[in-house]
Amino acid sequence: MSTKTPPLAQFGVVGMGVMGQSLALNVADRGFRVAVWDIEPKRFEDLRHKGAPPSLQGHAALEDFVGALERPRRILMMVTAGAPVDSVMERLAPLLAPGDIVLDGGNSWFQDTRRREAAWKQKGLHFLGVGVSGGEEGARHGPSLMPGGPAEAYALVRPVLEAIAARSEEGVCVTHVGPDGAGHFVKMVHNGIEYADMQLLAETYDLLRRGLGMSADALAGLFEQWNQGIAESFLLETTIRVLRKKDAETGKPLVEQVLDKAGQKGTGKWTVQVALDLGVSVPSIAGALDARNLSSLKDERVAAGRVLAAPQGEALSAEEKANLAAWAHDALYAARVATYAQGLRLIQAASQEYKWNVSLSEMARIWRAGCIIRARLLTPLREAFEKTPDLKNLMVADGLAPVLGKMAPAWRRTVGVATRLGIPVPVLGASLAYFDSYRSPELPQNLTQAQRDAFGAHTYQRRDRPDAGFIHSDWS
Ligand code: 6PG
Repeated sequence: MSTKTPPLAQFGVVGMGVMGQSLALNVADRGFRVAVWDIEPKRFEDLRHKGAPPSLQGHAALEDFVGALERPRRILMMVTAGAPVDSVMERLAPLLAPGDIVLDGGNSWFQDTRRREAAWKQKGLHFLGVGVSGGEEGARHGPSLMPGGPAEAYALVRPVLEAIAARSEEGVCVTHVGPDGAGHFVKMVHNGIEYADMQLLAETYDLLRRGLGMSADALAGLFEQWNQGIAESFLLETTIRVLRKKDAETGKPLVEQVLDKAGQKGTGKWTVQVALDLGVSVPSIAGALDARNLSSLKDERVAAGRVLAAPQGEALSAEEKANLAAWAHDALYAARVATYAQGLRLIQAASQEYKWNVSLSEMARIWRAGCIIRARLLTPLREAFEKTPDLKNLMVADGLAPVLGKMAPAWRRTVGVATRLGIPVPVLGASLAYFDSYRSPELPQNLTQAQRDAFGAHTYQRRDRPDAGFIHSDWS
């Protein structure tokens, strides 16, 4: 009687949380033999309940898991970002052989990824930091993937990543982003844009419900119309779904029962921190982060509401009542363009700093499906960077500058109405200020420079002779 050894698995997944399970099932569905490992082997039961085929096998011992993989081994880690990634890598490293490839699919800090990749290179091992977007649903049926690391290692995992990624009319939503931390950097910026886009939708919702008294259902209806046009996006679609849901206990819209304190896991904060380090202006993303931070001060806000004055006797004119919804549509779209412009500019700056050579048109293409910020806007965005790869700012692209020009009056009216009514619109407003600053040949920083020189002899350049160098004047 011959005992047949099962064929080796072609792909391994470590970490059977929701994302790890979904990705493992996705890989198995695409016809690959998959081995999985988790510190809690009982999680393999969940996989069986979720319909895992026999080609997906769980291993209780890490050694057995590694031994069950064909060489070079391809292992995706889906563990919590931070120390757990290092500890799994420490356990894996002695079991691996030169040329094996480990992918980190968590939301890891890109500098950690750079460090890990460099350290593993010394051992002859490959490490790829892979941004994975799309939540559980995306992971299961087609995420957008942003892999960064050595090109030769990417070539070896490419068939699997291309098989599991989402697809749009513009192709498969994965590409080699660049070397070392490029993939995780791009994913971090994706999340920064996500924060700002979510906040823009929240501000629009707030302005229309408080300014026009629209119900959740009426807003859902309006947003459904918007979602048929240029503003179409996954986050707008999600907003509609949220607005339509009724609370089982009260029968009222469930969103109204949700406490207005937003959480965060840190990628938005990193985006702003890195932007500050690289000297890139990201006011829309910073505004969204501040909005979440301020929202968490619920008790203080309730107390302050009793002592700080709200606008009194402000009412909308008939014209404003009739047009606010249409204006808000344009404000949302224009501010979204400004937000993406900031995020892409940040990727461009990091790509230069770290010599990653990231293609922004490719980023737009792989974000077109599967990820959280997928939106119709990404098509003109891709076209803009295809035409001019080193375009400095998306807002000045041929296809978008005229649109922003047309929408700017409505954007201003929207921010104006909100300001008069005392409804905070930090990201609509910050995005408009970004637009106005960027399009202004004249800014008041002549005064800033003069002040710096007047109180601290920090020197300034003259307009009429900028090349003559920095001078100091006596301002008394
Ligand atoms: C994605 C998301 C995801 C992120 C959540 C939560 O692309 O699938 O960006 O990676 O974890 O959106 O982020 P916050 O908890 O910080 O809001």
